[in-house]
Amino acid sequence: MKDKDLYNIPSEACTKINEWLLKFPDGEKKPAIIYALHLIQKENKYIKSKHVDALANLLNLKKIDVYEVASFYSMFELEKVGKHTISVCTNVSCMLKGSDEILAYLERKLKIKVGTSSDEYFLKDERECLAACCGAPMMQVDHRYYENLTKEKVDKIIRDIENEK
Ligand code: FES
Repeated sequence: MKDKDLYNIPSEACTKINEWLLKFPDGEKKPAIIYALHLIQKENKYIKSKHVDALANLLNLKKIDVYEVASFYSMFELEKVGKHTISVCTNVSCMLKGSDEILAYLERKLKIKVGTSSDEYFLKDERECLAACCGAPMMQVDHRYYENLTKEKVDKIIRDIENEK
């Protein structure tokens, strides 16, 4: 791998991507896109167009191949977002158990509207079922699940995040 190919990918992600690529035969690197995008996002918090371009170079794919994956999956952020991503499920089970109130409470508490971000928090668009219906209402914070939410539980979750700083 030449340095120019790696230039725009965060360093730690780049090392792991290169290790991961050894598992794929030459010319069959497309399945590595999702893992590589995860690593880039983990290190950079969101995926810039320069990352898409660099990853396409690295995998010897067209830029559109990488961009299609990055833009298709809601787990990938293509714009700058806050440090912590919160996704409240508002599908049927969660809605019946009060997810709308939880979402409205979070909007007031964090002083941001759903689908927007502050420096600290990104309150992602309402989510479809996140497969934790038995724990409704639920939300995901930085990919961790929190279930059976109440306003008090939300307060504690946010307080814990604030205390981790
Ligand atoms: S409806 Fe919310 S997790 Fe399934």
